[in-house]
Amino acid sequence: MAPQPALRLRLLRRPLFDKILFANLAVVGIGAIAGTVITVWHVRAFPNDLHLELIILFVTAGVILSYFVNRWVLKRALAPLDNLQVGVDRVRAGEADVRVHMGNISDERFDRLAETFNAMLLRQEESAAEMQGLTRRLIGAQEEERLRLARELHDEAAQSLTSLLVRLRLLEHAHTPDEAQARVHDLRALTASALEDVRRVSLDLRPTILDDLGLGPALEWRVDEFNKEGATQGTVVVRGMEARIARDTELALYRVGQEALSNVHRHANATRVEVSLVRTNDTVTLEVRDNGVGFDPSAARGATPATRGCAMGLLGMRERMAIIGGDLVVDAAPGKGTTIRAGASATADMHT
Ligand SMILES: Nc1ncnc2c1ncn2[C@@H]1O[C@H](COP(=O)(O)OP(=O)(O)OP(=O)(O)O)[C@@H](O)[C@H]1O
Ligand SMILES: [Mg+2]
Repeated sequence: MAPQPALRLRLLRRPLFDKILFANLAVVGIGAIAGTVITVWHVRAFPNDLHLELIILFVTAGVILSYFVNRWVLKRALAPLDNLQVGVDRVRAGEADVRVHMGNISDERFDRLAETFNAMLLRQEESAAEMQGLTRRLIGAQEEERLRLARELHDEAAQSLTSLLVRLRLLEHAHTPDEAQARVHDLRALTASALEDVRRVSLDLRPTILDDLGLGPALEWRVDEFNKEGATQGTVVVRGMEARIARDTELALYRVGQEALSNVHRHANATRVEVSLVRTNDTVTLEVRDNGVGFDPSAARGATPATRGCAMGLLGMRERMAIIGGDLVVDAAPGKGTTIRAGASATADMHT
């Protein structure tokens, strides 16, 4: 009777060591039985023979049988490794969606190898897709920022310069010194306003105060600007920041502060926001705390790239801090306000 399929499968899936061992035991066992039967028959039929041909026959048959049985077992048992090799080659050739199938007579150990390999491929595909989504949204955010700057330059600076041109033409045609004086006065006011527009756009891009005077004064300036924008009133406390810290750290913390303030302005509906920048020994910590509506940070963090929409602010803050080896904590709850805390080493390489 043929073994039950489940039992057969269990036998076929024994470890490679067992397969070879059992195959060789079978060869030796069958050889011994067949040899004994043939020898007994031969001794009875030809009692005076030397039986040399019998020995040659047994050795040859044993070697040939052992060769074929071992070859068959090893080929079948190692086939999963060949599959794995084919999978590896396909991945190296840049193919997508590669998966290794082990077949049904492989060792459990080979199965685990294939499973691990397949899981690694899946994780790699997922992180590549995540990275692609992130890059797409970063490029989108960059384009939006360019559009905003282009609009600001066009609507404000370019408009002021056009008015300047018109008024210069009027000045050319002034009839009396008094008229010319009035036009020059106009021109000066307009030029000052155009200059202010350009300065604002440029400061928005990267405040020179950050490079010239450092993070503390730059944050104080940003909060001053913030206070002019809306109803929320901001205050700043800077402590222990007499010496400059690494430029990368300054820039990262400044951008975190800028985005946190922008979020307060756009989402918090707060009356107050407190910004503090404190250096203690080797760490510098920036905290932006508002008393607004708050939100659920775990929902925002758990979102996948697809569901996160185009919200890049918190993600960007986290990435910036990670790049300089720092960290970011978002402490918020609906109705309880929001605190963003970014910490980094104050003694990081000053040349970076
Ligand atoms: N200070 C805050 N008060 C209330 N809600 C906030 C605050 N900061 C962030 N949030 C919430 O977290 C979400 C994610 O913020 P994030 O800065 O990542 O994106 P965004 O501001 O919506 O868009 P982006 O910054 O990309 O222009 C916001 O949409 C908002 O719901
Ligand atoms: Mg934001």
